[in-house]
Amino acid sequence: MTTSRRHFLRETAAALTMLPGLRSPRVLAQLARPGNAVRFPPEWSGDQLTVARIRAAVWPGSTTEMLAINGSVPGPTIRVRRGEEFAARIQNQLDQPLVLHWHGLLAPERMDGHPRDQVGTGQSYDVRFPVLQRAATCWYHSHTDELTAEQAYRGVAGLFLIEDPAESALGLPAGDHDIPLVLTDKRVNAQRQLVYAPSMMDQMSGYIGDVMLVNGTPDAWLSVDRGLYRFRLLNGSNARICKVGFVDSRPLWVVATDGGLLPAPAEVRSVMLAPGQRIEVLVDFSGSAVDTSVLLVSLPFATGGRMMGGSAQGSAMDLIRFYVDSSTTGTGKPPAVLAPIEVLSEQRARRTRVFTLAMSGMVHTINGRLFDMDRVEFTVPFGDVEIWEYHNTGTEPHPMHTHGGLGQVLSRTTTVVLAPEDRGWKDTVLVNPGEIVRVLMCFEANPGVFVHHCHNLEHEDSGMMQNFEVLRPPALAIESAGWGVSLSWPVSSEGWRLETSTETIGSPWRPVVEVPVVVDQRWTVRIAEPTGPQFYRLVKG
Ligand code: C2O
Ligand code: CU
Ligand code: CU
Repeated sequence: MTTSRRHFLRETAAALTMLPGLRSPRVLAQLARPGNAVRFPPEWSGDQLTVARIRAAVWPGSTTEMLAINGSVPGPTIRVRRGEEFAARIQNQLDQPLVLHWHGLLAPERMDGHPRDQVGTGQSYDVRFPVLQRAATCWYHSHTDELTAEQAYRGVAGLFLIEDPAESALGLPAGDHDIPLVLTDKRVNAQRQLVYAPSMMDQMSGYIGDVMLVNGTPDAWLSVDRGLYRFRLLNGSNARICKVGFVDSRPLWVVATDGGLLPAPAEVRSVMLAPGQRIEVLVDFSGSAVDTSVLLVSLPFATGGRMMGGSAQGSAMDLIRFYVDSSTTGTGKPPAVLAPIEVLSEQRARRTRVFTLAMSGMVHTINGRLFDMDRVEFTVPFGDVEIWEYHNTGTEPHPMHTHGGLGQVLSRTTTVVLAPEDRGWKDTVLVNPGEIVRVLMCFEANPGVFVHHCHNLEHEDSGMMQNFEVLRPPALAIESAGWGVSLSWPVSSEGWRLETSTETIGSPWRPVVEVPVVVDQRWTVRIAEPTGPQFYRLVKG
């Protein structure tokens, strides 16, 4: 457990101790506050992720039935440094099938949590893959066939944080100033039980709740000092899109989106955060007086379409209240520069794929079809960059999410300048009614069959999803010779060239300068033994 989490646990424990003589005025003030101190999921350790039904203390004085991971909702926060391997045994103790997906992580095909890989009640399966991508706030959640929405809603989700040295070196707010905020909306009955009973209208528009939980906490608050904070926001809701901002419209400096850090912070007053998306912001409390508080909310907005049946999409919601109750003043300012990213150029795109998102009858389709587990809709050559063009012809927003690759938003018909939430590496892109959004997608991590789908989980479960296959590149053989290393691939595979990088995605790749020669029917490149970790890939063209 990190010291920051210990600090929070101590604070909570202090607030719960009913020994008047030991309580400071500060703690007394906290006890008098309405609502609940925001909870933090524990850090994951060990090698098990066990999903089971539990009764959790969500509201004081009652318990709520939820689906927990290792007894916790949200599930434990997985933290991996780039270059490390992630390995876990997933145990399904539910009375339903289950598979977990690592959202935002470039996992190998059979580790990714495709619904075909779900296991039955009482079964377990192993996941193991190296995490080679740059620092990012990712997450994991149920991806069970037609049960993703209900299982995620009832709690099968958690954060998956990737760290790397480039990010650590920036000195961003850390420890108890690095705060995850997992936003989920629920419907709750008088017995304080979660209700999941989508009507026909809910199936069409997505299940929207009227109670907001932050890290599983209703009416959440957090004590802060007058310093700079890093908030890692995840919208873990099934369907609700949040427009996150402070009631006093203080600035948010956007530092990261789905796939990690932006090149530089962008100052805004609010950010749109659709289901599945993450955004990281820095917030400065140094201008706030001690003993004041400020509320983070989801601001009301229009969806741009006529929602079915008067859906509550875009309604105002309170998220969490921050009490400034320490005079400690931070000196931190947002850094001027964050982390460079490889900007994909449109010229690199080898083709454009159009995805028409439409309503047909009671369901939403992609190019007129619904998901078929066994049908692969299209193939993508490994290493290719493609333009994925989403045309939303319907009346509802669709946050479109892709497994197996990351992308960069190229354009959006409703704006000239892309908002910060559209910048950087993205895995989930919001496509509003009437919009055409073009995304440069890059598939250079893993071959195999992956899905892309709407992250409105009711839309996903009702079939707004497709399989596609990233084709296998020519096998690159790496052999070490006495004097160095030889890399080779079959002469029969035309038009590939070798590139190298110190990480697999998100950092610039450069061509290997040595010229390949044909040896035993293979293109062969000989290089000196690299001094540190080095990645190689074959790129077409
Ligand atoms: Cu977060 Cu395929 O999902
Ligand atoms: Cu995903
Ligand atoms: Cu959708």
